[in-house]
Amino acid sequence: MKKIAVMGSGNGSNFEAIVNYLKDVEITCLSDNVNAYILERAKRLDVPFRYLPFEENASYFASHNFDLIVLAGYMQILPDEVLTLGKFINIHPSLLPAFKGKDAIQRAFLAGVKVSGVTVHWVTGDVDGGKIIAQYPVLIGNTTHIDEFEAEIHKIEHLLYPVVIDKILKDEVFDFQDLIGGCGGCGKCH
Ligand code: GRF
Repeated sequence: MKKIAVMGSGNGSNFEAIVNYLKDVEITCLSDNVNAYILERAKRLDVPFRYLPFEENASYFASHNFDLIVLAGYMQILPDEVLTLGKFINIHPSLLPAFKGKDAIQRAFLAGVKVSGVTVHWVTGDVDGGKIIAQYPVLIGNTTHIDEFEAEIHKIEHLLYPVVIDKILKDEVFDFQDLIGGCGGCGKCH
């Protein structure tokens, strides 16, 4: 069975979507924040979890083997020393390379862009700068409210990330139309 770690510092909604989608994968939840809600979700979902202080990442990954390490709202920058110990991917709430860094949803909206979206990418030392694996667009209409836009981004994240992880673990080639049904991605049929 494939083994993945999901690392998050906060809410953990992507983690929950991943757990609900990936049925034949061994998942471990790791958080650098002892109070993070992601740990509560892991407890509720019966997924092994642990608090992993940032300074302990290198020794932890040197002694634990994962097929993939999935960052989902992990709020720290991992050094090369850690990144060389596994294959790390991240999800970011914009169409990279636009709007790297924090508050990408709000910054894209306030900039007035008409298309933003979600990106899954390899993690490198260059923050949100690794090679893009998958993207999915979200349109912003003239009457779209920021709350609607934000909700749509999160909905797409929850659809996109688990499918991309599954494809990577199975070593399958894909393009974005395969990812969430090949439709417009409204998610109503899922
Ligand atoms: C997501 O919007 C993700 O794109 C960003 O951090 C947020 C994490 O949300 N990197 P959650 O903790 O998965 O709910």
